[in-house]
Amino acid sequence: MAPTVQIIALVAVGNLGKYVCEALIADIRYDVVKGHSLSPKYRVAYILTGTYQKRDWFSERNIHTEESDYSESSIRAILDASGASTLVSFLQAADTLYLDLHRAWLAACLQSKSCKRFIPSEWAGNVDDYPQLPKFYAESRLPFRRILQETAGIEWTLFNCGWLMDYFLPQHLTRMPAEPDTFPIDPNAWHACIRGSGDELQSWTQTKDVAAAVGELLAAPSWEPTTYVTGQWGTFNEAIRLLEAHYGREFEKTYKTAEEIKGAVDDNLDLWMVSGAAACPREKTLSQRDRYFRHINFATLDDMLKGID
Ligand SMILES: NC(=O)c1ccc[n+]([C@@H]2O[C@H](COP(=O)([O-])OP(=O)(O)OC[C@H]3O[C@@H](n4cnc5c(N)ncnc54)[C@H](OP(=O)(O)O)[C@@H]3O)[C@@H](O)[C@H]2O)c1
Repeated sequence: MAPTVQIIALVAVGNLGKYVCEALIADIRYDVVKGHSLSPKYRVAYILTGTYQKRDWFSERNIHTEESDYSESSIRAILDASGASTLVSFLQAADTLYLDLHRAWLAACLQSKSCKRFIPSEWAGNVDDYPQLPKFYAESRLPFRRILQETAGIEWTLFNCGWLMDYFLPQHLTRMPAEPDTFPIDPNAWHACIRGSGDELQSWTQTKDVAAAVGELLAAPSWEPTTYVTGQWGTFNEAIRLLEAHYGREFEKTYKTAEEIKGAVDDNLDLWMVSGAAACPREKTLSQRDRYFRHINFATLDDMLKGID
């Protein structure tokens, strides 16, 4: 019997979402481009707002798109019209906007005829052991996770990857916009602001590997409530030493102590990175690598740097 074709819908496709688009284009199981000649098991419908720049990115690649104002009724109509079985969110929004839109999209899934799988926009660190970090997630993602836990009739997973490893790259080598005030290493200005001791454990994953892992997970028959991938566990001090050796150049360094971070009003991810919350839980991550992602060779930082030489 021919496999039933599943339709995947992606919503709020920005920087990270575009990497996922590229990974799905490269994966022959997915039909992303209009008129694709293969017979894939999964098709992808992209859900967008009407910004012209974004439409250009997709139309240049001949990718299926739909427009939406992100309301519950609009998303539900698109899910029903496309027959989507899965909705994946990449929304980057704070506080109530994150919560309101994700509630609307969950309701749209529940009311739709076909969409019974949902990946909300998480894409961060260890949410099992540090659900309150980063602090600003406690007002947006934490309440939404509680809603998911109390909701029947839909399968969901919180997908997390630690830091995107691309932040170690100069801007011209990644689509992720540089975060010099947030990420401790600024590879463009060649400056490092070490938070805490710099020896606190982190995890990082190259963005293209995160994207490939999403493709694997979408094809998996069942999910766990949290899903983790990690290219490498390490510390920022180790990363600095590796980068300095690789480029033959020392970073200009400044420091922010753990006491300063704990006493600060603004969070800025500092507490998240010095508390261990940015490191995905090793045992679960490795067990899920074996279960879902054994076809992916996750790059270490060293692999990524050697790959761009
Ligand atoms: N682990 C890490 O190191 C790391 C790094 C970066 C991002 N992330 C996470 O990955 C996810 C995606 O990040 P990204 O960099 O891809 O995000 P992004 O490109 O900045 O935004 C994603 C989409 O969110 C929608 N959006 C943004 N602001 C909005 C607003 N005010 N109202 C309505 N929609 C809004 C936009 O969709 P439309 O244009 O279609 O409306 C945008 O394309 C987020 O959850 C982010 O926190 C994690």
